[in-house]
Amino acid sequence: MVGMIARCIVRAHPILTMAACMSYQRLLAELDLGFTRLRNRVVMGSMHTGMEDRFWNYPKLAEYFRERARGGVGLIITGGISPNREGWLLPFGGTLNSVFDLRNHWRLTQAVHEEGGKIALQILHAGRYGYPAVRCVRIGVEVAHFEVQATRVQHGRH
Ligand SMILES: Cc1cc2nc3c(=O)[nH]c(=O)nc-3n(C[C@H](O)[C@H](O)[C@H](O)COP(=O)(O)O)c2cc1C
Repeated sequence: MVGMIARCIVRAHPILTMAACMSYQRLLAELDLGFTRLRNRVVMGSMHTGMEDRFWNYPKLAEYFRERARGGVGLIITGGISPNREGWLLPFGGTLNSVFDLRNHWRLTQAVHEEGGKIALQILHAGRYGYPAVRCVRIGVEVAHFEVQATRVQHGRH
């Protein structure tokens, strides 16, 4: 009988199974952050899947996060999303810098909220590692501009 109940719990709530195996007593306790409440302290860390970078993958990404939320995770952190084009992790990668980007991100939020979880968007600027092609194009343009200027000076057209 006890085994049957345990099996039911395992199927119903994977997080409970995990907690039962460990002694993190507050793991499943609610957490009031002031601006929001988490149903427990289980956090899914930020892991870029690549789906963030193409708008057509957002429905799939929403289902991916929905499954994790359904499994009981309290807070999911998205893979890194760039705040602008200079910070792209990939050419035309996941960005949040206009209202047009919001629709995709809301899709994720909605899926997770429907399962009782919370989700935070990770803003990640790739800094000096921002997609090199973008930088190469810019450097290329700057070099070309410099060469045009130098040629003009050489031919006394400045
Ligand atoms: C495939 C993959 C993608 C990741 N993407 C991100 C990311 O977008 N942002 C971030 O801060 N960390 C990212 N990480 C780092 C993880 O969040 C985590 O910090 C790292 O895997 C170390 O944890 P671990 O020792 O449990 O693996 C990624 C890790 C992996 C394996």
